[in-house]
Amino acid sequence: METAKQEKQGQKPVSPVPLMEIATGFMRSKTLFAAVELELFTRISGTGADVADLGRLLSLDPRPAEMLLTACAALGLLVKRGARFYNSPLAEEYLVKGKPQYFGGRAMSLDRATYPAWRRLTEALKTNRAQEAPDQSTWTDALAANPERQRMFIESMHSRAVPEAPAIANAVDFSKFNQLLDVGGGSGAYCIELARRFPSLKVGLFDLPSALAIALEKIAEAGLTDRISTYRGDFFKDELPKGSDVLLLAHVLHDWGPDKDRLILGRCFAALPSGGTLILREAMMNDDKTGPLTAALMSLQMLNATEGRNYSWAEYTEWMEQAGFREIRRVELKTTGGSGLLIGRRP
Ligand SMILES: C[S@@+](CC[C@H](N)C(=O)[O-])C[C@H]1O[C@@H](n2cnc3c(N)ncnc32)[C@H](O)[C@@H]1O
Repeated sequence: METAKQEKQGQKPVSPVPLMEIATGFMRSKTLFAAVELELFTRISGTGADVADLGRLLSLDPRPAEMLLTACAALGLLVKRGARFYNSPLAEEYLVKGKPQYFGGRAMSLDRATYPAWRRLTEALKTNRAQEAPDQSTWTDALAANPERQRMFIESMHSRAVPEAPAIANAVDFSKFNQLLDVGGGSGAYCIELARRFPSLKVGLFDLPSALAIALEKIAEAGLTDRISTYRGDFFKDELPKGSDVLLLAHVLHDWGPDKDRLILGRCFAALPSGGTLILREAMMNDDKTGPLTAALMSLQMLNATEGRNYSWAEYTEWMEQAGFREIRRVELKTTGGSGLLIGRRP
């Protein structure tokens, strides 16, 4: 029965509707980016706006003001009551500047750094070379040489990490650990969440100097300077500081090729005591490499911006095993970054 039904379904003529959705996907993104850049959601938070109000607030003519409001409503970012448009719950929580979960940092980095580079995606595919900063030896050198881009990058990581941090804190029982080191910890968002949630956990963040300078600001803003230790270093040149019984390595390995990833995992193993735990956070690819879409697109982003790619659960597991980790388990996460965690133990 089922086969007959499937065959019948297979005979249905295919529709170009999904193709159109794929092809126009960038229009959705750019509508969001323009609205965030103009601070639409911030300016109308609480009050809402009709077309004339928005025109005044954002210095827009009525024609584009109406179009932008309509498009944002169609995207589910605004809701219309009478003649006025109000932030939807999604926009109110994530797109209003100053709110703790503000997603604007991610949106602006995608718009200003990622989007222009994706115009050269075909070139990246043909040359197997990153297009975001092709002249620099590594993407981290490129960021370190450009403070504005470095800040934009860390703000982007922060916007992604803030909503992910509670998911990680819920997925692992951190109360059983004494000391955590977040390796390549970026903005410090995970350290901040874990320090708040687990008052007896000692928390440390290891990153390159240029990134750490921005993390220090975030940690100070959170009032956690006394709780979070910071370590400047380069995991390709330096040993990781010892003393932690749990390491977090989040969205780091997808930036590099397999040899460098094995080196980083080796450093993590060496830094842990026997019985210590490594939590690897990545947008893992399915083992058959058919998706998921979030990981597959992130992988192309890695082609365009770094020397890495998003690897599969099986590949990361194999490298962790080669580094010496055992009892490796998979934990899927339903977050903006997708996929999940691989948690392994040093015997
Ligand atoms: C993609 S970001 C991820 C940041 C953070 N873990 C997160 O998930 O939000 C990669 C991080 O690795 C850091 N990093 C890159 N190369 C490094 C190196 N050689 N030594 C230490 N940190 C490095 C970057 O500065 C950045 O903070």
